[in-house]
Amino acid sequence: MSNQAPGVRIDGLTVVYKTPAGELPAVRGVTLTLEPGSITGIVGESGSGKSTLALSLLNAVQPPGRIAGGSVEIDGLGDVVGLRGEELRKARGKHIGYVFQAAQNSLNPLKTVGKQLLDLGRSHGVDDLRGLVREAKELLGRMGLDGARVLDSHQHELSGGMRQRVGIMLALVLNAHLVVLDEPTTALDMITQANILRIVREVHAERGLTTLVITHDIGVVAEVADRLAVMYGGRLVEQGPTREVLGAPRHPYTRGLIQAIPRLTGDIGEARALPGRPPTLATVPKEGCVFRERCPLRMDVCDTVDPETVADGPRLVACHAVAGAPTTAPPSGDLATKEHA
Ligand SMILES: Nc1ncnc2c1ncn2[C@@H]1O[C@H](COP(=O)(O)OP(=O)(O)OP(=O)(O)O)[C@@H](O)[C@H]1O
Ligand code: SF4
Ligand SMILES: [Mg+2]
Repeated sequence: MSNQAPGVRIDGLTVVYKTPAGELPAVRGVTLTLEPGSITGIVGESGSGKSTLALSLLNAVQPPGRIAGGSVEIDGLGDVVGLRGEELRKARGKHIGYVFQAAQNSLNPLKTVGKQLLDLGRSHGVDDLRGLVREAKELLGRMGLDGARVLDSHQHELSGGMRQRVGIMLALVLNAHLVVLDEPTTALDMITQANILRIVREVHAERGLTTLVITHDIGVVAEVADRLAVMYGGRLVEQGPTREVLGAPRHPYTRGLIQAIPRLTGDIGEARALPGRPPTLATVPKEGCVFRERCPLRMDVCDTVDPETVADGPRLVACHAVAGAPTTAPPSGDLATKEHA
């Protein structure tokens, strides 16, 4: 797969964490396809399971967590859930470039960025280390940094935003064709964020990558993603082409997320915060719809029956209220005005 964008098929993925109340799912029955050459965005509030899903793509979920079910088929690698040891180590970095959410803290404080870059290259058998350094400087330069200076720096000499860009450089520098970016722009101001997203798009197109961008900020995915998947309580509740999902959201949660963003509704006066709070592992309902506590369309069936994911063309929605409904834009404001059933 080294010169081609790989497709990724996540099927029925369930990931659990051991808690005092037993093993509880942070990701439950997630099925998602990343088309070769596409940028997919995953969005959802804190705790919805986004990072856990991202870690699963590298089979990097750590105890007390484990992948309890399902598969992650990556073209050229097979089902990564079955990979172990050396095979897995090689896949990470070289086939799958990634920036974990904690990337800002994952640099070694005792070594310069340049030294860590060389370690990375050596551990993946890169012969042309000069070429690697050149490539790193180029990427850092594109992101508005002085590459030579950054490579000479230790972590503590870099700001949060600089470290975030170093993380992105390290994800791209080995020329992996599947790239996973978990909250790549959270430490950045708006202008730098826009700049970084532009570079992610450019590099994605130049190299022909398959890219997954994870964020709690729906504005970020709106800018980069071809396809958008919305997570809530460990479930994928809606997915489809980004424009369609943002233009005519069907799941009540997606509607609520969009209406809470003034940037997307275009009018600050119109933005409405989503009421309530997202569930934790302990409070997420074990049966019925995970979103029901906050849902304005809740019905009796929602308390007992988990809504099936129903496909309508490229759109997939898991909600009793919209299953099989025709594709129409929701009347504006219906989320706030509908009575509880
Ligand atoms: N090591 C762990 N042990 C126990 N529970 C965990 C662990 N890591 C994550 N969780 C729980 O799993 C759920 C999903 O967490 P995850 O980090 O995947 O969410 P997220 O969507 O990435 O959130 P955020 O937007 O805050 O990054 C949360 O309820 C979280 O508390
Ligand atoms: S209508 Fe029911 S199934 Fe749909 S989001 Fe609301 S609670 Fe969930
Ligand atoms: Mg996260």
